[in-house]
Amino acid sequence: MAEQPPNHLTTPYVILFIFFISSTAISTKPACNKMDQDSLWSSFELSSRLNWSSNDCCHWEGITCDMAGRVTHLSLPSKGLKLKGGNIFPLSLIGNLTHLTHLNLSHNLLEGSLDQTGFFSSLSRLEIIDLSYNLLSGELPLPSSNIRMLNLSSNHFHGAIPSSFFQQAWNMTSFNVSNNTFSGAIPSSICLHSSPLIQLLDFSVNNFNGSISHGVGKCSKLQVFRAGHNNFSGILPNDIYNATKLEEISLPHNSIYGAISESIVNLTNLRILELNSNGLSGVLPRSIGKLSKLKLLLLQFNNLKGFLPSSLMNCTNLIELNLGYNSLEGNISVLNFSKLNQLTKVDLGTNYLTGVFPISLYSCKSLKAIRLSSNKLEGEIQPEILSLKSLSFLSLGYNRLTNITGAMKIVMQCKSLVFLAFPGSFVGEEMPENLSIADFDGFQNLRFLSLANCELTGQIPAYLSKLKKLELLYLGNNRITGSIPSWLGTLPRLYSIDLSSNLISGEFPKELCMLRMLVSDWTAAQVDSNDLELPIYGPGGPASVLQYKWSYFPLAISMRNNTISGKIPVEIGQLQLLHYLGLGNNNFSGNIPDQISNMKSLEQLDLSMNHFSGKIPSSFASLTFLNFFNVSHNNLEGSIPTSTQLQSFKASAFEGNPNLCGAPLPNECLPIKGNDAENVENDENDDQIPWLHISVVLGFIVGFWAVCGSLVLKKNWRYSYFRFLDRAQERCMANRRRPRS
Ligand SMILES: *[C@@H]1O[C@H](CO)[C@@H](O)[C@H](O)[C@H]1NC(C)=O
Ligand SMILES: *[C@@H]1O[C@H](CO)[C@@H](O)[C@H](O)[C@H]1NC(C)=O
Ligand SMILES: *[C@@H]1O[C@H](CO)[C@@H](O)[C@H](O)[C@H]1NC(C)=O
Ligand SMILES: *[C@@H]1O[C@H](CO)[C@@H](O)[C@H](O)[C@H]1NC(C)=O
Ligand SMILES: *[C@@H]1O[C@H](CO)[C@@H](O)[C@H](O)[C@H]1NC(C)=O
Ligand SMILES: *[C@@H]1O[C@H](CO)[C@@H](O)[C@H](O)[C@H]1NC(C)=O
Ligand SMILES: *[C@@H]1O[C@H](CO)[C@@H](O)[C@H](O)[C@H]1NC(C)=O
Ligand SMILES: *[C@@H]1O[C@H](CO)[C@@H](O)[C@H](O)[C@H]1NC(C)=O
Ligand SMILES: *[C@@H]1O[C@H](CO)[C@@H](O)[C@H](O)[C@H]1NC(C)=O
Ligand SMILES: *[C@@H]1O[C@H](CO)[C@@H](O)[C@H](O)[C@H]1NC(C)=O
Ligand SMILES: *[C@@H]1O[C@H](CO)[C@@H](O)[C@H](O)[C@H]1NC(C)=O
Ligand SMILES: *[C@@H]1O[C@H](CO)[C@@H](O)[C@H](O)[C@H]1NC(C)=O
Repeated sequence: MAEQPPNHLTTPYVILFIFFISSTAISTKPACNKMDQDSLWSSFELSSRLNWSSNDCCHWEGITCDMAGRVTHLSLPSKGLKLKGGNIFPLSLIGNLTHLTHLNLSHNLLEGSLDQTGFFSSLSRLEIIDLSYNLLSGELPLPSSNIRMLNLSSNHFHGAIPSSFFQQAWNMTSFNVSNNTFSGAIPSSICLHSSPLIQLLDFSVNNFNGSISHGVGKCSKLQVFRAGHNNFSGILPNDIYNATKLEEISLPHNSIYGAISESIVNLTNLRILELNSNGLSGVLPRSIGKLSKLKLLLLQFNNLKGFLPSSLMNCTNLIELNLGYNSLEGNISVLNFSKLNQLTKVDLGTNYLTGVFPISLYSCKSLKAIRLSSNKLEGEIQPEILSLKSLSFLSLGYNRLTNITGAMKIVMQCKSLVFLAFPGSFVGEEMPENLSIADFDGFQNLRFLSLANCELTGQIPAYLSKLKKLELLYLGNNRITGSIPSWLGTLPRLYSIDLSSNLISGEFPKELCMLRMLVSDWTAAQVDSNDLELPIYGPGGPASVLQYKWSYFPLAISMRNNTISGKIPVEIGQLQLLHYLGLGNNNFSGNIPDQISNMKSLEQLDLSMNHFSGKIPSSFASLTFLNFFNVSHNNLEGSIPTSTQLQSFKASAFEGNPNLCGAPLPNECLPIKGNDAENVENDENDDQIPWLHISVVLGFIVGFWAVCGSLVLKKNWRYSYFRFLDRAQERCMANRRRPRS
């Protein structure tokens, strides 16, 4: 295995040769035009990430020149670039690159606006412009006729699209202004007299309004039409069904009304039809099955009525079918889903569907997520569901299903099941307990379990202690008796528990204060952050942002409204990560432990309607995250500790404790012991449902919302706990509509 010296000997010659070749190559090509080089040099605040060291700008990173040494391509995405001087783009600098045809400065830090007249007149040869993901603002200038592709997405542009824009941009094929704050109507002229080549239009996430104008139908080449998350109203223009090249129509989150015309079946290339969260009415097109390429059919949150057309089952390429939150009716079990073998997600929740769970759905082997909650389905879960090997999300609550013991025995064998929601079904049955705990190996991957609102009797079943991946357990609003098992505290991933409104007795087990996920950040970091297969809705219901994130669920323990007695264990202070603790309306007694003030993440604390005595610990002044606090109707005494936090709550949070005094209660603390109880005004009238009763218990709400959801909750609650509301959401909240109970 000797080395081979000859190779080393030849190396210098090779290098020389390469040098010769490359230097001749360079010398045959004209060097970069001086003016272009200067203007490049002076355009940007050069970041260290740019390799612009050579003398010839045609060799610089991101630059391409033509034969004459003029710069034609400038492609520097994601370089952290800022424009030098001035805030009008391009000014004289980059504007001197008059031979530029391709400009890609996407994902940089460009600020300022596009020069209304100068931009396209100086850069008149530009064909491709990608300035997406910058900080550009101002209005859209009129284009040059050479422009073929414009992407200004994710900037801060505003104003209207000039009505003659598309008339001037004859050769435009792709126009993308998504995620800005453009307003006004979209020009009606698109394709009517202009831009006949347009293939892609993306107006989504702006403030456009008015109706979607006629003219789109003349776009004989249009493939993708997106305009979701705007304020569009009116009906879908009839001629849109003439644009037969269309592959995607995506207009979610607008106020479009009227019916989907039967003519839609002419769009045989359609793959994506996304019209969710609008005001569409009427029935689904009868012949929708002719759209054989359809992959995504997303029509949730509309007012569609009537039956599901049987031809829908001919859309054999469907991957996701979402018709939730409509008024669809009819017997779902007569539909034959068996040809939909690509189907991975089906959501028909919150409609008026009847019949039994469709057996044919069991043959859609790709299914990962099924939601049929809040319908009028009846019957039992069949063992055939086990053929859905990938099923991870199953939500069937608020139906008239029966035999929960059978159902649980079956679904516990679903190896992939992660999310199981059966609330509000199986009403009045007995909690399935005897699932042979000894050799129990079911629910191996279950992270979410809701059996809330079922009026189930019996005890908290022991097999739950085997669910080592369980994170969220919602058993509120049943008739569960017995005490809280201490093993609950040993579940390594559990962080959200709702046992409220049951008949649970016994004491608060101190083992619960050792829940690993609530004790230290170290374990919390282990949470698997995969998204949910189908979104759940916040307490704002349809109006709130859809949540695909597990992190949406609060870290909460609720035992409200039971008959739990004894003291709160002092170990409670270990639950440093807990956000919500609800112990109200029980029989707790003794002092409120000082250690609660160690719970540095606590946002909501409810100890009302118990028999707590003694003082409110003065250390409570340090619970700075608190935004809800209630100790009313106990036997507390002495003065309320002074802190900006505690005094910011209403008197009603403290009332019903005859010997408690100080702000915010009206009775002052007198140096001599007096009885000011009678002075306590009952200003918060009792019949007005207090905030807490509306929010009931976080866990309950979440358990409920996760699968059904359309209570109208007090607005401030949404703001106080979930801070995820964004611009888009507030808009759709204003549009929203139809409460259903
Ligand atoms: C750009 O061109 C203008 C005239 O067209 C000239 O005055 C200016 O100096 C040029 N800028 C650069 C950087 O070359
Ligand atoms: C910079 O570009 C030159 C050619 O233009 C090249 O030879 C050199 O390796 C590059 N340097 C880095 C650090 O990429
Ligand atoms: C611009 O560059 C980014 C990043 O490489 C790329 O994703 C994008 O497609 C480019 N734009 C165009 C129009 O080619
Ligand atoms: C449109 O593009 C074609 C070919 O790509 C070109 O020949 C023509 O000049 C362009 N038209 C305009 C108005 O720029
Ligand atoms: C900008 O939009 C065009 C067309 O929609 C697309 O081809 C391009 O990749 C987009 N740029 C980025 C950075 O996504
Ligand atoms: C929309 O634009 C903002 C900045 O204006 C950006 O932070 C955000 O990521 C963009 N959203 C999407 C979905 O690209
Ligand atoms: C528009 O551009 C954004 C980002 O640049 C991209 O995510 C989106 O897919 C584009 N729209 C279309 C229809 O290509
Ligand atoms: C659709 O196209 C046909 C044939 O080109 C035409 O007769 C009809 O008027 C068009 N429909 C609409 C609504 O524009
Ligand atoms: C759909 O196609 C049929 C037959 O090709 C035609 O009669 C009808 O006018 C078309 N509908 C629309 C809206 O173009
Ligand atoms: C579904 O497609 C088959 C074969 O193409 C056809 O015979 C049947 O009539 C279609 N069913 C419906 C309801 O359209
Ligand atoms: C409940 O379902 C199980 C399993 O499917 C079945 O064995 C049992 O007979 C059912 N019980 C009732 C009361 O229907
Ligand atoms: C308390 O729980 C009972 C059932 O145990 C229920 O009927 C009642 O409505 C609940 N009260 C509140 C205020 O939640």
